Amino acid sequence: MKTYLAIFGATGNLMYKKLLPAIAALQANNLLEPDTKILCIGRAQHTVESYIETAKTQIQTPINWSQLSPILEYFRMDFDQINAYEHLKNHMNMFGKSKRLFYLAVAPELFPVIAEGISSVQLITQNDALGRIVFEKPFGEDLKTAKSINTMLWKYFDESQIYRVDHYLGKEMIQNILVMRFANKLFENNWNSLAIEKITIIAKETEGVMNRGNYYDHVGALKDMIQSHLLQMAALIAMEVPKSFDVDGIREEKVKVLKRIRVEKEDIITGQYRGYLDEKNILPASKTETAVFMKAYFDTPRWKGVPFYFLTGKKLNEKRSEIIIDFEDNTMQESLWPNQAIVKNQLVIRVAPDEGVTFRLNVKEHGLSNVIKKVEMDYCHDCNVVGNKPEAYERLLLDFIRGNSTLFTRWDEIEAAWKIIDSIKNHVIEPILYQDFDELNRYVENQLKEESK
Ligand SMILES: NC(=O)c1ccc[n+]([C@@H]2O[C@H](COP(=O)([O-])OP(=O)(O)OC[C@H]3O[C@@H](n4cnc5c(N)ncnc54)[C@H](OP(=O)(O)O)[C@@H]3O)[C@@H](O)[C@H]2O)c1
Repeated sequence: MKTYLAIFGATGNLMYKKLLPAIAALQANNLLEPDTKILCIGRAQHTVESYIETAKTQIQTPINWSQLSPILEYFRMDFDQINAYEHLKNHMNMFGKSKRLFYLAVAPELFPVIAEGISSVQLITQNDALGRIVFEKPFGEDLKTAKSINTMLWKYFDESQIYRVDHYLGKEMIQNILVMRFANKLFENNWNSLAIEKITIIAKETEGVMNRGNYYDHVGALKDMIQSHLLQMAALIAMEVPKSFDVDGIREEKVKVLKRIRVEKEDIITGQYRGYLDEKNILPASKTETAVFMKAYFDTPRWKGVPFYFLTGKKLNEKRSEIIIDFEDNTMQESLWPNQAIVKNQLVIRVAPDEGVTFRLNVKEHGLSNVIKKVEMDYCHDCNVVGNKPEAYERLLLDFIRGNSTLFTRWDEIEAAWKIIDSIKNHVIEPILYQDFDELNRYVENQLKEESK
């Protein structure tokens, strides 16, 4: 079957940074069906040649342009003009019968008009097994707006045709969480409050808002990071064993556990980096948070009393995303070796920038002494990969083209996540100012100390 992938927003940052490089990599690895065309749709005046020349200046990743160029087309239209969709249809019809896949790499304000446009001219119809559509995050800005976007989508498409991207789900180590848990008895048997003391989920960035001030000031770290990526990571860590590993089996369990999260208002600290107000397109005296620390509990028998800590922020000490699982103290060990520095076991799942797993354990030092020392067993997931290391967007695009929605979020997951964020947002949380990670961290640690008194 021929495949026609039409991308709205072809002159945007996402297209140049992620989508075109991902398409080129899929093509280079022979993962695109031979009869595939990519329709790049934008409002700038271009021929396909001038579009490709512009793209070349924007894309840093090496791309085999002589291989990619023949499958690219460019179509000019203003997405707001409803009558432009008739022309789009005429253009797409020239390709003949094919799978029709639409990717909306545009701001959410354009979702309704594009969804209406392509369905009004029947480029995609409900129950059409050959038609699918992808929406980029953010999916709404609170529960109310997300619901209204979703109601609009359900008017035009079936749920099975709708793919909502959270690109974290395309990352290798996020996909590995379930394998780590369920394919290793050692972990799954100890994946509960009896063995685990706390779980920390981190996504730190070194950059500030850069040129995304307009978007970011409106949204902030809670909505930009916690609502999507961090809650998705937490759901995969905290969910129960799914009945099956198919699309709905996993999503079912993620939704169930997300509905059981509890966050107390005193357990949220927000911060804003010093200098944020001087960035471009930020409102004077903006109170938007650029960092969030919060403690949450999942009220399920498995996680009774286990704190889940979340930390995300901009302008911090490093770019790092990881999940740290701290196991309980083994008091028996302490009574057996009272004078030894025995550490608690710790499992770290490293998501980015490097991918891998570290497990900390105690061993006897080599030789005649009986000293116990800690060691870290390290598995590097991306060290031995030969050739292309697929990026999250490659995996997501391929799954979308093939019709596998496991790594995309279902509406009820998004709904559950927005309920959590809305309830947090109800508390007025004034961000503290921080210069760097150390300052933010000191504040968080002081708060934690106060709390434990
Ligand atoms: N960039 C990323 O790394 C990233 C990561 C995750 C999610 N996302 C999400 O992906 C979406 C796109 O982000 P982006 O960074 O690519 O945004 P962007 O750089 O602003 O690109 C938006 C695109 O939409 C086009 N556009 C806007 N209004 C239009 C109209 N009325 N008619 C025709 N074209 C119109 C723009 O055309 P012009 O060039 O002519 O203005 C541009 O091609 C957003 O929802 C964003 O949140 C982006």
